[in-house]
Amino acid sequence: SKRGIILGIETSCDDTGCAIVDVEGNILGEALKSQHLIHLNNGGIIPPIAQDLHRKNIEHVVYEAIKVANVSFADIDAIATTVKPGLPLSLLIGLRYGKHLCREHKKPFMPIHHMEAHALTARMYDKNLQFPFLVLLISGGHCLLAVAEKVDKFLLLGESIDDAPGEAFDKMARRMKLKNIPEYSQLSGGQAVELAASKADDPLEYKFQIPLLQYKDCNFSLAGVKNQVLGHLIKEERKKDVLADGVIPGVNNLCAGFQLVVTRHLCHRVQRAMEYVSRKQLIPLDKKTLVVSGGAACNNFIAKGLTIICDELGYKIVRPPPKLCTDNGVMIAWNGVERWKENIGMFTDFEDIGIEKSSP
Ligand code: KG4
Ligand code: ZN
Repeated sequence: SKRGIILGIETSCDDTGCAIVDVEGNILGEALKSQHLIHLNNGGIIPPIAQDLHRKNIEHVVYEAIKVANVSFADIDAIATTVKPGLPLSLLIGLRYGKHLCREHKKPFMPIHHMEAHALTARMYDKNLQFPFLVLLISGGHCLLAVAEKVDKFLLLGESIDDAPGEAFDKMARRMKLKNIPEYSQLSGGQAVELAASKADDPLEYKFQIPLLQYKDCNFSLAGVKNQVLGHLIKEERKKDVLADGVIPGVNNLCAGFQLVVTRHLCHRVQRAMEYVSRKQLIPLDKKTLVVSGGAACNNFIAKGLTIICDELGYKIVRPPPKLCTDNGVMIAWNGVERWKENIGMFTDFEDIGIEKSSP
């Protein structure tokens, strides 16, 4: 009989995801229902609305994944579910449903840490990736640098003290009214800013200061950058004739300047982390690898900057494809597989497992 088949459920933010993944990392079936467009129209995620949508969609998403995989519950060894970090209201829906399935089908429950799952997905994508490795997670809700030491052991080197990169991109895009441009209306904030930046005729017109340059830690901050950009935006809005859609004429150059300073900041912090890692000998010299994941890792400009740093410092860069970088059920199921292989984190008595609003 087949062994090591895990069903994963993800509801930490605004995607209802489910996937069934086997011990070799084959995705047997998956389903994903994004709430993205609804939240875009609301100008951001309203937690009770996100919860309602998860509640409405969870059952269908899970059964869709099972149908695609063509498996029955008898084939499934455990059910993995994101329990932290995330929006508590959203997490609750996945948690309840995951536990419900475990009770009904007598399966062990695996509580999963969303950020660890992002990091470990790289091992499903690149089967040669071994512990320990350096990981940069940049998404709408998180920004962190860590050393992944084991399946269940991460050393946190730094995190954002304010906005996460995806969040900063989203706020910028909203403030610049990019979604009023028809071509951009369906894009996430990050995608919209990246596309606008790629059309800049003078990408260096706006120069912004790199944050935290003088600090010797690995933390991130983007609030200052956001305010610098905002200052220019307000000035332009006063000075020039704003276009009918509310967008300033120089928006592409402004996006390019913003994207450049975010990239330089990320590169600077990653470089610091690499220096720290080598000083403390946390990663063997022949294994130096940087994993970049999370929604903002889809940004090709950021990836290019990070590749340069990696080349300079002798690191291999592993960047899972966009589909695996953003939130989905696959990453949760795969984390379940990693735990299943080591026989850790499986609970048959799971009623007291709740959600935790802690950061990693
Ligand atoms: O990982 P993800 O799907 O959800 C979170 O856990 O946050 O990431 C979504 C975030 C959004 O903030 C989105 O704007 C950002 O990732 N993002 C990007 C790009 N594509 C998506 N940010 C920068 N550049 C992109 N190309
Ligand atoms: Zn995420």
